This record gives sequence, C-alpha cells and structure tokens, in this order.
Amino acid sequence: MKIAVLTSGGDSPAMNAAIRAITRVGINRHCEVFGVYGGFQGILNEQIHELNSRSVSRILHRGGTILTTGRSEEFKTQAGLKKATKILSDRGFDALIAIGGDGTMHGLDELGKYWNGRLIGLPGTIDNDLSGTDYTIGFDTAVNNALEALDKIRDTAEAFSRIFLVEVMGRHAGFIAFHVGVATGASAILMPETTTTIEELAQKVTAAKARAKTSVLVVVAEGDELGNAHVIEKALSEKIGEGCRVSVLGYIQRGGNPTHFDRILATRLGAYAIECLLGGMHGGMVGEVDGNLIMTPFEDTWTIKKPLDQWMLGLLDELSS
Ligand code: F6P
Repeated sequence: MKIAVLTSGGDSPAMNAAIRAITRVGINRHCEVFGVYGGFQGILNEQIHELNSRSVSRILHRGGTILTTGRSEEFKTQAGLKKATKILSDRGFDALIAIGGDGTMHGLDELGKYWNGRLIGLPGTIDNDLSGTDYTIGFDTAVNNALEALDKIRDTAEAFSRIFLVEVMGRHAGFIAFHVGVATGASAILMPETTTTIEELAQKVTAAKARAKTSVLVVVAEGDELGNAHVIEKALSEKIGEGCRVSVLGYIQRGGNPTHFDRILATRLGAYAIECLLGGMHGGMVGEVDGNLIMTPFEDTWTIKKPLDQWMLGLLDELSS
C-alpha cells in the first residue's frame, strides 16, 4: 500500500511522534510511506517525498512538525480538490493520513467526495475540541506549558497581592483554559462554552479579595465572548476600582518537547491508523475514548460538540473558595 502522510493547520506537540509511528509501523507492514510537506497545499505543489525509518529518527521528543504545516485556501476550492485528486491518483497513492484539527477533518471529508483513495485523520491540535477522542495530540503538552507559566505568575501575583488575567489559547474552545484554571486554582475561568458577565467576574474577584486571598488569578480563553484579556482587564478594573495585570501566553503553549502522555497517544494513534488501513477501515478520524481506540466519521468530529466536564465545572467556585 502506498500511503501519504501530512500535517495541517496549527502544529501541536507530538505530531512528530505520530509521523514516526505511521512511518515505521507502515514500513514494517510492507507499505511505502511518503511525507507531504506544507499541509494540503503540499499535495498541490507536489512536495511529496518518500520517508524511511531513518527519516523519522530523533523526532520523537521534538515539538512542531518535520513535515511543516499550513492552511491552504486553494485546496478548499473545487479546482483545488480536483487537482489534489489527480495528483494523488497519478502518483499511485492508495491512502492519505492527515494529522490536524477540525479544519483538517473538513479537508479530508471534502477530498473524500472526489478521491476514492483511503482517508484517515489523526486528531492533532492543542485545542482538544474534536469529538471522537478524549484528548487530542498536543493538548496535554500545551496545558503543561501554560501551567508552568501560571505557577510563575502566581509567585509574582502573591508578592504584590495582585489580580492577574492570563490569556491562554483556544479560539473556539475553552479546554486549555478549563484544565489550566482548575490545575492552578484560578478564581475565575472565562471560556467560550460558558457565559460570565463583567458584573459576575467583578463579584468573584472582589469576594476572593474579601476572603483575604493573597493573589487572584483569572484565566481567559482567547475566544471568550467578553473579548481578549486586555479588553476584559479594562472593563474589570473600571468596575472594581483597582488595576489588574495582564499576561498573554500565546505561542509558547504550542511549542516544546511533548509530554509522555502526548507521545504515547500520538504513537498509539499513528500505529492504529496503519492497522485500520491494512484492515480495510478508513473514512474517519482515529481517536482514543475510555482507553479504547476507535474511528469516528469525519463530520461527527466537528458537528458533535465535545462538552467540558460538567461536574468539574460545577465545582469551580467551591475549589477556589
Ligand atoms: O487551533 C490551534 C490554535 O493554536 C488556536 O488555539 C489558536 O487560536 C490558533 O491555532 C492560532 O492560529 P495561528 O497559528 O494561525 O495563529
């Protein structure tokens, strides 16, 4: 079987671990494995090169993606999809594995309407916002990166008895904010999945101060409906009559050596993708749910909204009391 593999959209730590598992397990099971460079655009530009076991040496521990990534507008068009179909067929590919987030699953779903090759997706995004897997590849590392930064911010916040608003990534999803907020004892967590007014936030912060808290951390997901951390800080400061500090963590969350959790998840999903292909299972995203490896139709991964843990959500006020 001739398999192409690519990474698309925002990179996430341990994408490399997935590429390594796909390549090595694929080759050991008598497949030819080719890397596509630059995401879906790499198919259109024919940046496709064969990988061998040594091409994926010394990458297990590295963040980013050796295949490089991108967001292709051309690939989304009918002409782009037809061109990609022709290139994949002309070059004799039987299958394509793409690692990425919801945009990547959309891309595979669209390509499946034109190309009759076998398609498999792997969930690679720090946002953890795909249904069909408990965790996405890179989420754990991103949360740990943010956690390390927040622990440091807590030190300086305590030294000055300050209120800090810390913005984390997550354009449409609050999973990073939620996990890092719970794990650092934040007084409030603002996420797109929940609605918090400035009045409610001001009340939480004032109440925390009244309970003699020496520092107050508010974690803000970049996609919160109230705006970004700077916008919220302005409104909050006016409301409570006290200036707050803002720290935007940004891209440091997306880089660095993947955690053991992400390396294992990526390795399992990469190997499973090959086993699925060879066993005749395709047309969906592989994921791990309750410890079981499963495949979910592409469309379900973004149309079924993955919920935050409602029980933990209900505990937030008690935990930060
Ligand atoms: O989807 C992953 C993500 O890191 C989001 O959390 C963030 O909003 C977005 O990508 C940033 O995208 P870009 O890399 O295009 O700036």
